[in-house]
Amino acid sequence: MPEEPWWKSAVVYQIYPRSFADSNGDGVGDLEGIRRHLDHLSWLGVDAIWLSPIYRSPMDDFGYDVSDHCDVDPVFGTLDDFDRLLAEAHERGIRVLLDWVPNHTSVQHPWFVDARSSRDSAHRSWYVWRDGGDDGGPPNNWRAAFETDASGGFKPAWALDPDTDQWYLHLFLPSQPDLNWGEPQVVEAMHDVLRFWLDRGVDGLRADVIHCIGKDPRLPSDPPSVAGIPKSATNDDPSTHELLRGIRSLIDSYPGDRMMVGEVYLLDTSRVATYYGDGDELHLAFNFPPLYTRWEAPAWRKRVQEVLDHFGPVSGWPTWVLSNHDNPRHRTRYGTEARARAAAVLLLTLRGAPFLYAGEELGLHDAEIPPGRAVDPGGRDGCRAPLPWERAAPHGWDTEPWLPWPPDPSGHSLEVQRDDPTSMVHLYRRLLATRRSSPALGHGDIELLSGPDDGHTLAWRRSLGDDHLVVAVNFTSEARPLSLSLAGDWVIELASDAADGEGEAWSGSLRPDQAVVLRPR
Ligand code: GLC
Repeated sequence: MPEEPWWKSAVVYQIYPRSFADSNGDGVGDLEGIRRHLDHLSWLGVDAIWLSPIYRSPMDDFGYDVSDHCDVDPVFGTLDDFDRLLAEAHERGIRVLLDWVPNHTSVQHPWFVDARSSRDSAHRSWYVWRDGGDDGGPPNNWRAAFETDASGGFKPAWALDPDTDQWYLHLFLPSQPDLNWGEPQVVEAMHDVLRFWLDRGVDGLRADVIHCIGKDPRLPSDPPSVAGIPKSATNDDPSTHELLRGIRSLIDSYPGDRMMVGEVYLLDTSRVATYYGDGDELHLAFNFPPLYTRWEAPAWRKRVQEVLDHFGPVSGWPTWVLSNHDNPRHRTRYGTEARARAAAVLLLTLRGAPFLYAGEELGLHDAEIPPGRAVDPGGRDGCRAPLPWERAAPHGWDTEPWLPWPPDPSGHSLEVQRDDPTSMVHLYRRLLATRRSSPALGHGDIELLSGPDDGHTLAWRRSLGDDHLVVAVNFTSEARPLSLSLAGDWVIELASDAADGEGEAWSGSLRPDQAVVLRPR
């Protein structure tokens, strides 16, 4: 059997650089802060880190509005800091993925500054310009993400440029104009950006809203069924697939298994599956329906089955995500630490590549953001609260960070949890070690098991060669007997609620909110 690429069995750890660790006392995290905490990531056992954008940016969308793709914003450090971080991560066997933002730039990017300078400018065609509609308003009914009007509706995805008297398209903020990927020079320029970072040695990219880059060139208004929904959640044009094939061949032309994971923000797993192409588009695609699924067994069974049904035929390797920088953390959504622990077992034992969001290993909740401290136009500050490293305030930061702390920062700090073998961080560490030592968890098949308790529990078998494991999750807060008709005796390899019971024969019953990994004796 040919060797599998690293990213199939990898656990990727997402870092939101502003909130991870600060080295220079300005209250905003930076690259040197990340470098100084590589020990934590090695100890935890992650295979790769993905950094949310570190490029020069006016920070209207905290880095997802790029004004120079080939430099580091001074708030995060310098290119030298990046090179040092990359080298030291590699020394520890940790791969590094960067966020690549191909759909739009900042209005301050020199390309857009030139584009808006006149209708005849060299970069005019690099963005999407149209005359107004018949009523003098926006060219079509598309809506942008984030900002709402007085009645709560999303605002138009068009802004009028008064000097050149045309409208430009922006699927996000007005200060994030969409690039025109129908213009070959844009394709070449964005390929150059990829080359810049791949030449520097990054192991891969996370591609921001990649399903948005191809657009129907006629820019037709949305039909009533989806009108009013931000276009970025529905855009699914065939032209994106051709663009992805070009991007894939560029990445695959580099040695060393470089990869791209794409954010395909279409809440329909059958559509997400199409972005794997014929093995010639994305290496991995985020599939977000599970992220929006309630903590209930039947709902999760459906999500896992959908992935089997739709990714199987295209041989798409799945990804699993419970938390990221755009959504409330699952610790907050699911309400209790016990459930968050069971969810960690699920996340790290399903078939596919799990993505962790920094701080979930500490069991962080979202911060409460008082009205005067809100900074994100999309209302996502809570999940971006800083990581507490030390017990005593300011928790390993030199000063009060840019956002408020999550609740109980002392109790959730790494310092406190490192000393407690029953803590959340030790659960994540043990789960990562279990994954690493099990070929079945890394690359094996999955089979959903059914039993009389399906309304409350979910169980699956992972197998590869001689390696077999069974995972069982109790989605309720009552003890549940679990009749799985497993042949032979099974031992608890890992339990979500504490080390208690591990190594012992399994009784056939799950404790309240418990998940277990079982191995044949
Ligand atoms: C993606 C990012 C989000 C960003 C948006 C616009 O959804 O995850 O943080 O605001 O794209 O770039």
